[in-house]
Amino acid sequence: MKSYIKGAVLAVVVGMVPALALKAGDNPPPQTDLDFRNTVTGDPLDLTVGPKEGRDTPAVKEFFKTGVDPYIEVKNCLPKAQTLFLEACSGCHGEVGEGKIGPGLNDNYWTYPKNKTDKGIFETIYGGARSQMGPHSDLPLDEIMLIISWVRHLYTGPVEDADWLTDEQKKTFKDYDAEHPVTLKESGECKIPGQ
Ligand code: HEC
Repeated sequence: MKSYIKGAVLAVVVGMVPALALKAGDNPPPQTDLDFRNTVTGDPLDLTVGPKEGRDTPAVKEFFKTGVDPYIEVKNCLPKAQTLFLEACSGCHGEVGEGKIGPGLNDNYWTYPKNKTDKGIFETIYGGARSQMGPHSDLPLDEIMLIISWVRHLYTGPVEDADWLTDEQKKTFKDYDAEHPVTLKESGECKIPGQ
């Protein structure tokens, strides 16, 4: 009897986990006027799926207002961004985004040209694309923002094609040195400008 109850409780708890993690409607994202669409189908993205954590950080709020990722080239955030990319993306896209099972992310060729914008690449990461590029809506939104900043940091193509950089950022941006990849260390608090 006892073990039957335990089993039943376990079944309920286990059964609840996926529902908790990915139930639509539970975790509304910050207010936005932007129209987020699936990269392949063009259908609206349901931004309410995914974990509650990291949904209303200053970076996410700003991104949902402007469509611009405020972590781009914020030096103190890059170490965390690199770690997240290595955990979630490098297995398919390569350690430095050079391409493996998935295409290279560090050059100026994009299967989907909208990935040159932060909003576009967010839509691809969050909603997925074809074949093995599944949706990454299970990641906290703040982590997606960080990962995008690392993908941008890995860029080795002509700087004039880096549409995601401001003119000011283009002046100082340096190609990522894939021959000598570095593991960055935190040197200060990760904060976006103006935070
Ligand atoms: C299981 C393998 C796999 C993982 C993990 C993966 N991707 Fe992909 N990714 C792919 C494949 C395959 C494609 C090509 C899909 C297509 O063309 O529709 C792709 C396409 C892309 C594209 C579009 C590139 C272009 O040229 O337009 C981007 C951007 C991207 N992935 C980013 C990421 C990021 C960031 C992560 C980590 C959060 C990630 N991917 C994780 C396999 C993967």
